[in-house]
Amino acid sequence: MMIFLRILAAFVLMGIMALVAIIWLPVSRSPLSESVPADWTASPGEGEYVMRAGDCMACHTAENGPDFAGGRAIESPLGTIYTANITPDPETGIGSWTLPQFRAAMIDGLRPDGAHLYPAMPYENYRMLTERDIRALYSYFMDEVEPVNSPVPEPELPLPFNQRWGIRVLNWAILSHDNGFDGTMGDPVLDRGQYLVEGPGHCAACHSPRTVYMGQDGIAAGEPDFLTGGFIAGQEAPPLRGQGSRIRHWPIQELTTFLATGRNFESTANGEMGLVVDHSLQHLTDDDIIAIARFLRAADRLQHEAPEEAVATGPLSIPYAQANAEGADTARMLTGAQPDMPLGARLYLDNCAQCHFVTGRGSPGIFPALQGNSLVTSSEIAPLVSIILQGARVEGTEKRPMPLVMQGYKDRLDDAEIAELASFLRQAWGNAAEPVTEAEVAEIRQSGEAIGH
Ligand code: HEC
Ligand code: HEC
Ligand code: HEC
Repeated sequence: MMIFLRILAAFVLMGIMALVAIIWLPVSRSPLSESVPADWTASPGEGEYVMRAGDCMACHTAENGPDFAGGRAIESPLGTIYTANITPDPETGIGSWTLPQFRAAMIDGLRPDGAHLYPAMPYENYRMLTERDIRALYSYFMDEVEPVNSPVPEPELPLPFNQRWGIRVLNWAILSHDNGFDGTMGDPVLDRGQYLVEGPGHCAACHSPRTVYMGQDGIAAGEPDFLTGGFIAGQEAPPLRGQGSRIRHWPIQELTTFLATGRNFESTANGEMGLVVDHSLQHLTDDDIIAIARFLRAADRLQHEAPEEAVATGPLSIPYAQANAEGADTARMLTGAQPDMPLGARLYLDNCAQCHFVTGRGSPGIFPALQGNSLVTSSEIAPLVSIILQGARVEGTEKRPMPLVMQGYKDRLDDAEIAELASFLRQAWGNAAEPVTEAEVAEIRQSGEAIGH
């Protein structure tokens, strides 16, 4: 009995010591990944470009709030946290931070006082930023961003998740990779694409699955689950590699067109991806967009010849898309318009077919295809139902200035009708997804949420 108690006491003691160590041992900051001459300075525009590639604006700007003043709510299953004010305001922003302190936030997820940042800030990916890019970013935020004095709310998380030291344990699991970037593709263009995707672009934060620790399962090329699809904010971020990936069937110029303009011959970027195009990708050079597209293909072991320009110039031709083999039966049924047509098909014909067509193929560059569309067939049904209810919008970009707008049907169709219509879409033209129920539509209608903008 005594021995047992002693062992127990030893365990308790060890546990307490471990906890004290976790809380009190000084945190360590990663060493420099490359040496940069002390007098190196970023060229004009360089820091802003890294900011665009890193998409800092999308997260660090609240809706209708001043640029980079933070306060945008990020919902998690555990509660809400708010993005930080990263303007150079000394009191409520990062105006008093030194370069090493800024660098530690970007790659180690640390604040100047050693407190840990929540991994909603994608330092897991920014860890791969080059030292030059970190310095360029720092001077951009210090010298070119307007300071805004605006405190952000504290995170709304229950115990124990409001204890920042707990993140330290998490970081042992998710920050095991070295900081800095080493291209592994053996070609300067592909390496550039790899850098943009893995580092600043943090594509894996949404497009890779998550591990049990909620870390990203696959943050770099060569890892088996890298970019094989994930979920973010109630939306599916489809696989960008592998068998189930739709983009492997896109000609490479359709991929570059999608990245640069949020639309292409069959798809549109909605919700979270709409924001990525709007705030980040549309501002990248053609060379960088092409490098990203070529890297994505190479990472999938596909051909990756370079198109001459990211987005073809000249008038957009709008050929009428023929039904393909999988879509032929549905197209025939819709064209026949027999009186005994199922309700969902009838609603489609009356409300949607003039733009998305009986073929379900839409119209290149304007009306997205609903056939084979991951938003339509996803296990996350809220984006589809919310688009039917509230409509959707793809912002204009420099290369395609016209926004694409679809009106909502919330006043024209009731919950039962939308359930029938959505279920039809999920099984038409060879789509094969579970039907949607009236109760599910009612819940999504009640939340009133629109997707993205
Ligand atoms: C996916 C959303 C997201 C993106 C993209 C993002 N951040 Fe953050 N960032 C956050 C969140 C959330 C926090 C606050 C985390 C916390 O409170 O622990 C944060 C915190 C920070 C902090 C710490 C500030 C402080 O006062 O503690 C800095 C610095 C920072 N981000 C810089 C950047 C820069 C620079 C970029 C672009 C390269 C960027 N972030 C992109 C979500 C994001
Ligand atoms: C904040 C989360 C997020 C980030 C970061 C992100 N994506 Fe996406 N992405 C999405 C979502 C969500 C969709 C689905 C959009 C839709 O259904 O309209 C998507 C769709 C796509 C598609 C179309 C896929 C298909 O099958 O239709 C491509 C290509 C793509 N993203 C590439 C990228 C690349 C490259 C990066 C990094 C530079 C990136 N994404 C970063 C969330 C994200
Ligand atoms: C007047 C033309 C028009 C009509 C009618 C129309 N749409 Fe759309 N739809 C669009 C446009 C334009 C977009 C692109 C906007 C976007 O994706 O945000 C779009 C996008 C969509 C998307 C998103 C696809 C994706 O890949 O992200 C879905 C789903 C959709 N429509 C379904 C429907 C349904 C169902 C109906 C009938 C109730 C309908 N649409 C009626 C024009 C139309």
